[in-house]
Amino acid sequence: MIDFKKIFSSALNLHFHDHMSLDQIEALIETPKNPLHGDLAFPCFQLAKALRKNPAEIAQKAALELQGSLIHQANAVGPYLNVFFSKEAASAQILEEVLKQNRLFGTNQSGKNKTALLDYSSPNIAKPFSMGHLRSTVIGNALANLAEACGYQTVRINYIGDWGTQFGKLITAYQKWGSPSAIEKQPIQELFKLYVRFHEEENNDTELTAEARRSFKKLEDGDQEAEKLWKWFRDESLTEFQRIYKLLNISFDSYQGEAFYNDKMGNAVSALRDKGLLSDSEGAEVVYLDDGLPPCLIKKSDGATLYATRDITAALYRKTQYQFDHALYIVGQEQSVHFKQVKQVIKKLGCHWADDLFHIPFGLYLKDGQKMSTRKGKVILLEEVVLEAIKLAEINIDNKNPNLENKKEIAKAVGVGAILFHDLKNDRMNSIEFSLKDMLTFEGETGPYLQYTNARAFSILRKSSLEPASVIGLSDSASWEVLKSINSYPVKIIQSYTLHSPAILAKHLLEISKNFNKYYSKVHILENDELLPSRLALVKAVTITLSNGMKILGMEAPEKM
Ligand code: ARG
Repeated sequence: MIDFKKIFSSALNLHFHDHMSLDQIEALIETPKNPLHGDLAFPCFQLAKALRKNPAEIAQKAALELQGSLIHQANAVGPYLNVFFSKEAASAQILEEVLKQNRLFGTNQSGKNKTALLDYSSPNIAKPFSMGHLRSTVIGNALANLAEACGYQTVRINYIGDWGTQFGKLITAYQKWGSPSAIEKQPIQELFKLYVRFHEEENNDTELTAEARRSFKKLEDGDQEAEKLWKWFRDESLTEFQRIYKLLNISFDSYQGEAFYNDKMGNAVSALRDKGLLSDSEGAEVVYLDDGLPPCLIKKSDGATLYATRDITAALYRKTQYQFDHALYIVGQEQSVHFKQVKQVIKKLGCHWADDLFHIPFGLYLKDGQKMSTRKGKVILLEEVVLEAIKLAEINIDNKNPNLENKKEIAKAVGVGAILFHDLKNDRMNSIEFSLKDMLTFEGETGPYLQYTNARAFSILRKSSLEPASVIGLSDSASWEVLKSINSYPVKIIQSYTLHSPAILAKHLLEISKNFNKYYSKVHILENDELLPSRLALVKAVTITLSNGMKILGMEAPEKM
């Protein structure tokens, strides 16, 4: 069945998404009583209101805009926009556009001249890069790519957790039990061991807590020894993180972490004080908040600053530095109160742009239904999981296609693709039970399934000497399903970004792959008849859409597998 409504509303949505959602448009579409007037009709009254224009004028303009797209004929009849479809024409049109736009297919200009700032990944130094940080990293990276696909300038920030009381703990633990040579050998593991030991011993020794607090205070006051240790821990950690980002093909524009704001907090605190927002609470300084939020602690009684102090300072700095139109913080849902507090404090400072700060939360990775806790040392190391996935991909290739060129590279693409997609296809708020087995499955709804489907399409193209071209439209139902899903891909990109949901795109790529695999099993694609160039065009359109989509998700899209 042809979903005319969807095509019509998607086409309208491409032009009017700023004023009306896809659902709103779809809900308004009517079927004219007299079929001679059109297959479908869209009344322009509501849009006219939003645009403050005359409905007939809008119908006329929209008719022009839709001409030459997927719609065979569009007529403005008074305030109504009536359309006729032709399957052949529509398919030829879709194919032509996809082939022409190629790498740009799916992109749009909704974010033109706007800047989106994304704060993601942000692991804590001296701690292993755990599975817990994977979600922020891959969702953040996908959202940043989506923002770019929507025409935004992006600023990708890795807000490294390199400051806070935990460094007091670490310095104390190191001074008590640490061995420099062990740390040089395996920096993160050793530092992490110290961290875990600190928490174990702290339970029976309250003096340790006080000592750690003093160590942190020293660090904040610029004590040389403390600073030297801190810098050493930081450098070692960053080197390890870089290795992982390289493995995942992820990069950032800035690594300005919490410590970067040390010398900038004074200004933020003064601004709060000048506005009369700071109150004393048992020697500590807090900002009282509305909407049932707990007070935001700005300075402890010993003068030490907090996570919130740094986030407030960072937001103020970034607004001046980057003039962002919106900033997304891709951070677990357990920090939602924190971000509400930060946002409200900034708003109270009189910054209207506080409304442009968005916390994009996500669910946890669970182990046996429980939260994985770093403190108790219960972590799963991301790097080990990724390396395991790559190894498995290599074994798969050795079995299926032992003569493949660049085996190592492809194995990396597949292994990493499996891990990324396993995360991204889940709706972000769902918690995910950690299962290495699920992550490393290459069949079913997985990243490698997309990659294999894409590579299969590429191999069909290599088998023909003809150029793909949409000379004649396709009118069979199997191709129509593929075409329809390709057709709605650009709208899925917009939805994915505006709803901050890479899962929408991930699921849509699965849909396209399934439709294509069905098509492949039903239709003799390489049959030498007059439709061959059109069928090849369809195959090429599949490679374009899947490759573009996978790249946005952060995956590689190999042509041969
Ligand atoms: N380092 C923090 C953590 O691991 C996440 C930082 C998120 N970003 C921010 N601007 N607070 O929990």
